[in-house]
Amino acid sequence: MARSDLVKALIRSHQQGDDLGFQSAAQDLIQDERRKRHDLVADQLEAILEGHGRQRRPLQVSSLRPLPKTRDDLPLLSLEEPRLSFQDLVLPPDVVDVLDALIEEFRQRSAMRAHGIAPRSSVLFVGPPGCGKTASAQAMAGELGIPVARVQLATVVSSYLGETARNLEQIFTFLDVGSWVLIFDEFDMLGRERSDRADHGELRRIVAAMLQVVEEHRGDSLFVATSNHPTLLDTAVWRRFDEIIELPAPDEAARAAVLELKLRSVRHEFDLRSASRRMEGFSAAEVETAALDAIRLMVRRFDKCVGEGHIAYAIERGEERRQIVNRSQG
Ligand SMILES: Nc1ncnc2c1ncn2[C@@H]1O[C@H](COP(=O)(O)OP(=O)(O)OP(=O)(O)O)[C@@H](O)[C@H]1O
Ligand SMILES: [Mg+2]
Repeated sequence: MARSDLVKALIRSHQQGDDLGFQSAAQDLIQDERRKRHDLVADQLEAILEGHGRQRRPLQVSSLRPLPKTRDDLPLLSLEEPRLSFQDLVLPPDVVDVLDALIEEFRQRSAMRAHGIAPRSSVLFVGPPGCGKTASAQAMAGELGIPVARVQLATVVSSYLGETARNLEQIFTFLDVGSWVLIFDEFDMLGRERSDRADHGELRRIVAAMLQVVEEHRGDSLFVATSNHPTLLDTAVWRRFDEIIELPAPDEAARAAVLELKLRSVRHEFDLRSASRRMEGFSAAEVETAALDAIRLMVRRFDKCVGEGHIAYAIERGEERRQIVNRSQG
């Protein structure tokens, strides 16, 4: 595009309040400057654009372009406004340190690049179910003020053979505009041998292709994969991630902290420590459910605060649920 057209596109999108169009036009302009070897100007424009991104309201996800779909019209992505921050989670201090560093690097990615180094932008979260893998990825988006795009991995790979590359391309073309936290949940799905498919090498090729595409699109989005069966992923896959973060099941102190956090909006008068001890083996998600169950009981009974009776009932319900799950999983 001629330079005058780039400027026109920039102003037009600004006037129309078209945030994505604006980002896209600005990126084109920056690339134009880079092509002309005006690196300083390009860096300055990038820094301004990032500042713009930080102050901006979160994108109205509903007003975005149509979602990328498979040939069968199944959505390959779902988009979410960021709704969590690190304040909503109880995480081990060393994990918080790593996440803080990643967030800061992402914010300063232009400066990093100006020094000739790439910011870390791909993370693999591993750990048992319900310990905050997906929630941490969402909180990263919240901290950065950018939207979340969740890849429907099963849809990406389960459509017709040979369609995977097309599906990935669709996804990345869509995401090329703007900044995202891109979440690949249950990434280990790709490591599983699938007896229903004769093509054993196919999934391995898919993982390689996917990580390749991720690498090519490094820069303005963060890639987060999660897994609670990391042994299913081969070492070559592990190596491709910039960071691997383990989110452990919560210990007694962490369970008490989650309980307190989830009850922050109501008065509560019972011994958190003792309740946490009785929730031995609960995941953070299960502790959260118990807190919500206790609040529900309080409301149903027109009580004014969550007391021992409410939490005891909620823990019992939680135990029953756990037993049902355990029984049904053999
Ligand atoms: N560490 C945590 N601190 C506070 N709340 C948590 C934590 N982990 C999980 N939760 C709560 O539990 C819910 C489920 O957590 P999340 O979806 O992140 O689990 P997950 O590790 O991704 O599990 P899965 O492996 O089943 O996908 C979250 O929405 C969050 O509210
Ligand atoms: Mg998850």
